[in-house]
Amino acid sequence: MGIRKTAFGVVLCSGLGLWGGPPALGQAGPSNLGRSALPERAPDVPYVPTPQEVVDDMLAAADLKPGDVLYDLGSGDGRIVVTAAKNFGVRGVGIDINPERIQEAEANARSAGVQELTEFRQQDLFEADIDEATVVTMYLLPSVNNRLKPKLLRELKPGTRIVSHAFDIEGWEPERIIESDGRTLYLWVVPEHPSLGR
Ligand SMILES: C[S@@+](CC[C@H](N)C(=O)[O-])C[C@H]1O[C@@H](n2cnc3c(N)ncnc32)[C@H](O)[C@@H]1O
Repeated sequence: MGIRKTAFGVVLCSGLGLWGGPPALGQAGPSNLGRSALPERAPDVPYVPTPQEVVDDMLAAADLKPGDVLYDLGSGDGRIVVTAAKNFGVRGVGIDINPERIQEAEANARSAGVQELTEFRQQDLFEADIDEATVVTMYLLPSVNNRLKPKLLRELKPGTRIVSHAFDIEGWEPERIIESDGRTLYLWVVPEHPSLGR
C-alpha cells in the first residue's frame, strides 16, 4: 500500500468506471418477512462492494481505537462495519437504503459473531443521525459526497475521521491520500473549527 502525506492528506484511486450496472434492488423472499423488500426510493449509488484488502486499508487509515464508533454511509453487505468490529472490537453502524443489503449485512455480522457490536439501519443516509460517529467511511459518488458536505460539517464532532473509497470531496484538502490495490482512499479529519467548504 502506498501512502502519501500532505498537509491535510488525500488519495485518489479507481473511478466511476467501477460501477457495474444498476443497483441490485431487493427481492421478496422468506428472509425478507417483516421488512419491505424494496428501497423506498432509488439508491443514489449502485451497490459495488469494496474489496476486502481495500476495506483493511480504509480501517488502517482511520486509525481505529477502542471506543471509536464507525458509521458506514451506504453500507452494502456490511463488510466495513463487520471487519471493524471483528478486527478492532469497535462498535459500528451501517446505513443502507436497500433492505436486501441490510439483510445481507445482518447475516454477515451473525456469521462473524459480531452482532452485539454492529447495527444496520435501513435508511436514507441523508436523513440518518450520524453525530455519534467518530469514524465515517463511504464509497459513494462525487456528487453524493458533495451533497453530504454540509451534513458532515454540521453533525460530526471535531476529530472525527472520514475515509472515502475512490472519491474526493470537492474543495476539501485531505489529510492523507492512500493507494490501495489500485484504488485511491482519502482521509479527512474534521477540524476544531470547521471551515472546510462551508
Ligand atoms: C458502492 S456501494 C458501497 C457498499 C459498502 N460501503 C462497501 O464499501 O462495500 C454503495 C451503497 O450505498 C447504498 N446507497 C445508495 N444510496 C443510498 C442512500 N441514499 N442512503 C443509504 N444508502 C444508499 C447502496 O444501496 C449501496 O449498498
